[in-house]
Amino acid sequence: MKMRILSANELGWDTILDLFHMAEDFRLQDELNRHRNDAGVRSNLLNGCIVGSMFLEPSTRTRWSFEAAALRLGGNVVSAHSSSSSSLEKGETLEDTLNTVANYVDVLILRCPEPLFDASPNHPNFCIPSDVAFINAGDGNNEHPTQALLDAYTIWRRFERVGDLNIGVVGDLPESRAIHSFVKLLGSKMTNNFTTYCPIGFDIPDKFFPLTSSIHYKKESDFDEHLPEFDVLYLNRMQEERRGWGRETGQCELYKMGFDKLDMLDQQAIVMNPGPRRDEMPIISDPKVIYQEQTRNGMYMRMALLCWLFGVKP
Ligand code: NCD
Repeated sequence: MKMRILSANELGWDTILDLFHMAEDFRLQDELNRHRNDAGVRSNLLNGCIVGSMFLEPSTRTRWSFEAAALRLGGNVVSAHSSSSSSLEKGETLEDTLNTVANYVDVLILRCPEPLFDASPNHPNFCIPSDVAFINAGDGNNEHPTQALLDAYTIWRRFERVGDLNIGVVGDLPESRAIHSFVKLLGSKMTNNFTTYCPIGFDIPDKFFPLTSSIHYKKESDFDEHLPEFDVLYLNRMQEERRGWGRETGQCELYKMGFDKLDMLDQQAIVMNPGPRRDEMPIISDPKVIYQEQTRNGMYMRMALLCWLFGVKP
């Protein structure tokens, strides 16, 4: 069976560290090239490989960074950006569609609205093609493992570690796959202290619970009081497309990271957001807000992941 990434805690710590170093090499090369007014990082490590990119839900960062990563490594990309551009529109099952396109590509990257990979690896609730490498680029309200890896890489660059941190998590805890994978990766591979806040008072589903870390659910009234304790504050928008409602309820007001709240954070603290950013984070010009750095790091981490899937080293 080919390599696959379905969930955030599948990779061993040594592999994750290798990915951080690979991503860092790509980042440095990119900066150097751009500094010389040259095009960004590029190589032929994946020369001739074909990456299939099937995004059945809207995406900017994840799709562009994956496709740019493949092209910067010398690979080619075949993509579908909605179910209406494939035979899914004619009633074909997703399993049949994936088995079909798996015949043509070397790795398949899938984003879909259903939580396809939320069962245990031993008892999958969805069969993916076994003869092609596979990446879950976000499945419904379940997981978004590559987002968690780029988030972890971003934290590692800042703190030179990804453990022993006080992390505040704010957003749609039941529905945000970015938060699920973030907590799963940073809570099970290393020990961190999580404090979560949710505008609507719901908790993270048990199955994403960290194994080695502590997690505290706080009431909204405690939010300001705890701000000075955080090394990392991770925000994500209300997932309206899955809830059918969201910001019009005004529930997010308390958590907006305006200048008053940024000032309450420690000098070294960082504020992260997987994007798309909305009114939960009105400011991006503050050095503590590293949203654009995350976005850039996405491409370097995805270059590293593609190299790892194909067993090549820069
Ligand atoms: C996230 C997603 O799609 O889950 N975005 C992303 O991939 N960068 C978060 C979100 O949409 O809120």
